[in-house]
Amino acid sequence: MKIIRCKDYEDMSKKAAALFFSQIHMKPDCVLGLATGSTPVGTYKQLIKWYEEGELDFSKVKSVNLDEYVGLDGTNDQSYRYFMNENLFNHVNIDKANTNVPNGKADNMNEEALRYEALIESLGGIDMQLLGIGNNGHIGFNEPSDAFDKITHEVKLTDSTIHANARFFETIDDVPKTAISMVIGTIMKAKKVVLIANGPKKADIIYETCFGPITPNVPASALQMHPDATIIVDEEAYATILAKRGE
Ligand code: GLP
Repeated sequence: MKIIRCKDYEDMSKKAAALFFSQIHMKPDCVLGLATGSTPVGTYKQLIKWYEEGELDFSKVKSVNLDEYVGLDGTNDQSYRYFMNENLFNHVNIDKANTNVPNGKADNMNEEALRYEALIESLGGIDMQLLGIGNNGHIGFNEPSDAFDKITHEVKLTDSTIHANARFFETIDDVPKTAISMVIGTIMKAKKVVLIANGPKKADIIYETCFGPITPNVPASALQMHPDATIIVDEEAYATILAKRGE
């Protein structure tokens, strides 16, 4: 696990985007694993900038997103499909037919999960996966639990996640209670993983993720076992590491 310490959010976003820039240049038809939340917005902005400057070509890129709220379709402005269109896909030359987000409106979530897993396999797996992290250590929507789940499935969101994500909805009651999420096992199969985090609220969980025990209670801690995981954090998210390890 490599930890890259950055000055601030902008610096973090630029460094994360640079890894995706290299990935796309090295393999123009790569499969990118993409994430939502407020953290990756700056990374996407930087990628859009490079595209506009003629430095990046997304025409052959394929993408798979981590998760989606159950019950929301792509026209809902809180859905992750909508987020991806607004924050990246509508601004670059990616073919939307090559972009994938789990279907939160599928009739049968178990079947949708199997379809999504099979789709990732058929694309040849994920070359580079971008991740944010929830305050409780969730990645995608893999909430803390007693065991790492084996297969993409419908997950019940914890109260802490519902509260944290309520800021995006009109009222807390509007936050969906379940989501469909790629599981840790699928994320671990990505060839490269890039996790980004900023701000003081993420400092403790970043310490746990990088130096705490590997446990499904901190889902992101599984990344300690990933052969090519890079954690990119700003000074504030690095604060607990600094305090506890004096680095
Ligand atoms: C959601 C997403 C996660 C994301 C997390 C943190 O729960 N499912 O993929 O990492 O939010 O969001 P933020 O980046 O806004 O802190």
